[in-house]
Amino acid sequence: MTGGGSGREGGRALKTRVKTARKRSLASTLWLERQLNDPYVAQARREGYRSRAAYKLLEIDERYKVLKAGQRIVDLGAAPGGWSQVAAAKTGSRDGKGRVIAIDLLEMNAVEGVEFRRVDFHDADAPDRLRAWLGGLADGVLSDMAANATGHRKTDQLRIAGLVELAAEFASDVLAPGGFFLAKVLQGGA
Ligand SMILES: C[S@@+](CC[C@H](N)C(=O)[O-])C[C@H]1O[C@@H](n2cnc3c(N)ncnc32)[C@H](O)[C@@H]1O
Repeated sequence: MTGGGSGREGGRALKTRVKTARKRSLASTLWLERQLNDPYVAQARREGYRSRAAYKLLEIDERYKVLKAGQRIVDLGAAPGGWSQVAAAKTGSRDGKGRVIAIDLLEMNAVEGVEFRRVDFHDADAPDRLRAWLGGLADGVLSDMAANATGHRKTDQLRIAGLVELAAEFASDVLAPGGFFLAKVLQGGA
């Protein structure tokens, strides 16, 4: 690693550069460099969010006001847990008002007010299991799902779009009338 961390010189931020390493792919090196220079990553660390993604959901919710106290929310692709933290705070699930069920292929450390299930949402019985866990239907389904990035933007964009289409089907199986589906896609041709 080179450079001066996130320090500033004469009002200009110094960029941290990461040297390529034999065991690290170029995509990983560039990801690491972006992480080290990303102000949202630093803010998330300071404010106790598991990921910078938390700010995306906070911004969307500030604009569209979808998350409300007492709702039952499903968070697809939840790990490491930034969106789940926001959903728990907004629904009041930490105080027993709503419910947040977080689903991911990967393990996730516990988040207060969030019930985590390690599941592939593609599983044919996933909607049935979700309804059983909730004891009914959900008020909102969130999806920040993404497959491992290839670094090829068009490919990654298509893969996320595919996940979102399936997530929308999942949502239509588990949402109560009037419920909402909110998903992240990468901007691109498709
Ligand atoms: C960008 S991360 C989510 C970040 C998270 N929203 C946050 O705020 O911390 C995308 C997640 O989607 C998960 N994912 C991808 N495919 C999945 C699938 N088929 N079922 C469940 N989770 C999946 C990945 O394991 C990964 O943890």
